[in-house]
Amino acid sequence: MNYCIVVISLLLALSTSVNGQSTAPAPVPAPEYTNLTELLSVAGPFHTVLDYLVSTKVIDTFQEQANNTEEGITLFVPKDSAFSKLKKPSLSNLTGDQFKSLCLFHALPHYYSLADFKNLSEISPVSTFAGGELYSLNFTYVSGTVHLSSGWANTKVSSAVHATYPVAVYQVDKVLLPEAIFGTNIPPTPAPAPVVDIGPDADSPDHGKNVAASSPDSSSRSSSYRMMNWGMLNHLFLAIVGGFLMFL
Ligand SMILES: *[C@@H]1O[C@H](CO)[C@@H](O)[C@H](O)[C@H]1NC(C)=O
Ligand SMILES: *[C@@H]1O[C@H](CO)[C@@H](O)[C@H](O)[C@H]1NC(C)=O
Ligand SMILES: *[C@@H]1O[C@H](CO)[C@@H](O)[C@H](O)[C@H]1NC(C)=O
Ligand SMILES: *[C@@H]1O[C@H](CO)[C@@H](O)[C@H](O)[C@H]1NC(C)=O
Ligand SMILES: *[C@@H]1O[C@H](CO)[C@@H](O)[C@H](O)[C@H]1NC(C)=O
Repeated sequence: MNYCIVVISLLLALSTSVNGQSTAPAPVPAPEYTNLTELLSVAGPFHTVLDYLVSTKVIDTFQEQANNTEEGITLFVPKDSAFSKLKKPSLSNLTGDQFKSLCLFHALPHYYSLADFKNLSEISPVSTFAGGELYSLNFTYVSGTVHLSSGWANTKVSSAVHATYPVAVYQVDKVLLPEAIFGTNIPPTPAPAPVVDIGPDADSPDHGKNVAASSPDSSSRSSSYRMMNWGMLNHLFLAIVGGFLMFL
C-alpha cells in the first residue's frame, strides 16, 4: 500500500514538474544518494578497506561515480578478517601507485545487481576501476553463487551489503589481489609463522584468525540484518517523501 502512495506521489511530482511553472522552486532531492563512507562504516566490519579507500582518496572517486546515476558502481569489499589473514608483506611492500590500483581494483564502474552476474560471466574478463586488461576480473556464476577470479586470488560473493541502483556493495571472502601486481612476486603458499614473543593467550593474529574463521554464519547473518535495516530505512524515507509530496 505504501508503494502505491509512493508511486502515485512520484508520478504526481513528475507530471507537475514536467508541466508546471506553478510549482514551488525547491528541487526534488535525489532519493538515490548513498553515502559510501557511511554505508561502509556501519556495515561489515569493513574498517580496514574503508581506511584504505579514505587514505588513498579512492573513496572520492567511488563516491563521484555513485553520484553519477547514469552508470552507478559495484564495490567488492573484503571484511577486516580477510585483511588480517593476508601475510603482512603482501600489502606493506606496495608502492603508493600499486596500493591505489589495488583499491581501485575492488570496484566496477557500473551498477550490477546479483542477477546481472549471470550475464556478466559470459562477457568476462570485466575491467575494473583500475583500468585496462591487466586489472580485470573473471566472473563465474554457479548455482546462484558468484565466483570471482583476479588471476591471483579466487573468491566468492558471500553476501549483498547493499544493492539498490546506483550503488551495489558485495562482501567478498578475500582481498582481491591483481595479477598485474602480485603476478609472480609472492608464492601462493603461506610464509612460515613468525616467531611470537608474547604469551600464548595474548591476542596473537592466529587467535583472531580462528575466531573469524569459525563464525562465518553469525557475520553473514548480521550483514543481511543490516541490509534489511537499510531497506526499511529506504522505504521509510520514500514513504515520508511520498507523503510530503502529496501535500504539495
Ligand atoms: C558521509 O558520511 C560520513 C560519515 O558518516 C560523513 O563524515 C560525511 O560528511 C558524509 N558526506 C556527505 C557528503 O554527506
Ligand atoms: C555526492 O553527492 C553528495 C550529495 O549530493 C554531495 O554532498 C557530495 O559532495 C558528492 N560527492 C562527490 C565526490 O561528488
Ligand atoms: C618487502 O620488504 C622487505 C623489507 O621491508 C624486504 O626484505 C623484501 O625483500 C620485500 N619484498 C619484495 C617482494 O619486495
Ligand atoms: C546480457 O545483457 C545485455 C544487455 O544488458 C543483453 O543485451 C544480453 O542479451 C544479455 N545476455 C544474456 C545472455 O542474457
Ligand atoms: C580470465 O579468463 C580468461 C579466459 O579463460 C583467462 O585467459 C584470463 O587469464 C582470466 N583472467 C583472470 C584475471 O582470471
